[in-house]
Amino acid sequence: MSIKTKLVLSNIAMCIIPLALCIVTLLGLDSVYTKKLHTYYNIEDRRKRALINPYMEIKSINLRQLSELESKAEAIPDNFQDGEFLKSVNAALLEKNSYIVVEKNNKVIFNGSKEDNKDIINKLDDYNYNYNADRPQFSKIENNSDDSETMVRQIRFAFSDGGSGIIFLVIDTSKLSELSKEFIISIVIAIIAIVSLTSALITFLVSRSILIPLTQLKIGTEKIKDGDLSFEVKAESRDEIGELCNAFDDMRKRLKESVELQLQYEDNRKELISNISHDLKTPITSIKGYVEGIKDGVADTPEKMEKYVNTIYNKAQSMNYLIEELLTYSKLDLKKLPFYFIDIDFVSYMDDLMEEVKFDVEKNNIEFHYDNSIKGKAIVRIDVQNINRVITNIVSNSIKYMDKEHGKILVEMLSSNEDIIVGIKDNGMGISKEALLHVFDRFYREDFSRNTSKGGSGLGLAICKKIIEEHGGKIWAKSQKGNGTEIWFSIKLKS
Ligand SMILES: Nc1ncnc2c1ncn2[C@@H]1O[C@H](COP(=O)(O)OP(=O)(O)OP(=O)(O)O)[C@@H](O)[C@H]1O
Ligand SMILES: [Mg+2]
Repeated sequence: MSIKTKLVLSNIAMCIIPLALCIVTLLGLDSVYTKKLHTYYNIEDRRKRALINPYMEIKSINLRQLSELESKAEAIPDNFQDGEFLKSVNAALLEKNSYIVVEKNNKVIFNGSKEDNKDIINKLDDYNYNYNADRPQFSKIENNSDDSETMVRQIRFAFSDGGSGIIFLVIDTSKLSELSKEFIISIVIAIIAIVSLTSALITFLVSRSILIPLTQLKIGTEKIKDGDLSFEVKAESRDEIGELCNAFDDMRKRLKESVELQLQYEDNRKELISNISHDLKTPITSIKGYVEGIKDGVADTPEKMEKYVNTIYNKAQSMNYLIEELLTYSKLDLKKLPFYFIDIDFVSYMDDLMEEVKFDVEKNNIEFHYDNSIKGKAIVRIDVQNINRVITNIVSNSIKYMDKEHGKILVEMLSSNEDIIVGIKDNGMGISKEALLHVFDRFYREDFSRNTSKGGSGLGLAICKKIIEEHGGKIWAKSQKGNGTEIWFSIKLKS
């Protein structure tokens, strides 16, 4: 999920989740407060809930008691002069935070209040004037003696003796406002808590999915700064941060590879210097020995002198060969050896070259065969001199490492869809499995002491590999120790 989608979803969640939680909490609180409301008052309509402004409930509070009183007053009005009857009626009302005051001919004959309610009694007459028989209403009475809130409603009737009677139903509504305040405060606290907690939680979850990988990246950069490239940064998500982690880890891998390559180059350089010094030191030491011999007068006969001079010449020659090979290799390595590519028919090129090779091979008493299975022309783009060098290098190895009495060299040429493939096979001493892995490495010689006698530098096949690679081709070797060697290379056909 992308960060953008994540942010959009978290914003939606930040709206929807608190809203849903608020509704659920509101309904919960409502049922709690409705229950409380019902224990304090007699609510006519039991479905009415605290959620609806509790003050509105006043109209329905103790309405049933009111109508019961009305019908009782209508049925036997004189009961409202009977102290016992009034007490029992009042007792039931007291349980629901209300009581009655009965007046006969504007004089209080019963006051059901448990507490001192002089103030209310004094004010009841005022409400008498405001009484509207058609629309009887609850009226509020300011009770100055305490902080309680009181509502009153009256029922008018006539006693049997013609005296006018009024029943005042007085309800203490302070519990109602207390509950409503409590309810509103609870709602406000609940909403604040829900909104802040959900937004904190969602922010934490979203930021965690961003901050954790960022911290990982920061630690990664610190490690790279300290040269440690062996750690791994794993992408935990598929968003932009995950992509950044992957890119960072790719960068780390590349950096590690390039550092390792650098180290390998460094090792190679050291090995190269050591190989060159060794290969140059050997002929120099013998030249020095022979020159000292001449100086000391050891070569006292013309024959000896000639032998000494010839040896010195041969050693100088092999040094010259080594230096030239080295120079070629280093030019190839630095890509400074110029290549002159031309389009040529490889079949006629090989036919000509094989004539020369046949002559050289047969000079060494080795049987030579050339087998071309390509019909017609095969146009390739090659540097003729360098391909010459490749083939002569390989053939000269076959001659050099020939240990059989009836030596044979076979050059095969075939073509695939895209390439020309040339194989140079011999029945010489062969190469061991382990050595076969390294024959294209520079300075590699299978048996160092044996090959030194054959005058190799170990650069021949390394040079061949570089040249073939410059042509976009491949070179490989097959060999069996004691049975012979095959060196194959391919060159792209020009389409
Ligand atoms: N035809 C072959 N038969 C047996 N061994 C071979 C053959 N060709 C190559 N090798 C082995 O592979 C090694 C590397 O060959 P490469 O041509 O690179 O070096 P070299 O012949 O020793 O020296 P250079 O070619 O520079 O004079 C040789 O030293 C030899 O051990
Ligand atoms: Mg060689």
